[in-house]
Amino acid sequence: MAYFEWASDMEIDQGPIDQDHRKLVDLVNTLHTVTSEGRGQQIVDRVLGELISYTADHLRREEKLMESLKFPNLANHKVGHDAFLASIHDLKKKYDAGSITVAAQLSTVLRDWLSLHIRRSDKELLALLKKSQPRKAPSQAGQKNIKKIGL
Ligand SMILES: [Fe+2]
Repeated sequence: MAYFEWASDMEIDQGPIDQDHRKLVDLVNTLHTVTSEGRGQQIVDRVLGELISYTADHLRREEKLMESLKFPNLANHKVGHDAFLASIHDLKKKYDAGSITVAAQLSTVLRDWLSLHIRRSDKELLALLKKSQPRKAPSQAGQKNIKKIGL
């Protein structure tokens, strides 16, 4: 069983958002593997760097989508995203300062936060996507809307 298991209740659009989330799940699992196997620092550095930058990119892409859909409470969501990014950057600083155990801690923090993020905040986004474009062909409306704004 994977450290961070993908589950059917995490599906949002069967398109770009899910692809982003699956990539994040893969990266968290890779970080967990390289830290728990005690792999070299260069490898941990690379995985950690990619995971943090992909998380930031993902949240910005979602904010762009939320803006286009006039997502209620967008300001609060942004505050939540920024606070989360600030906390993982703080942990990254501790890791850079020589605390190797922080890398393992980061895989836990990211797994738990992403799991809630996908199941709560992104489900709200899905509801709005569906409302913004009445479906003619089920399961395609959300994807079309996402493509329109370049995600
Ligand atoms: Fe997301």
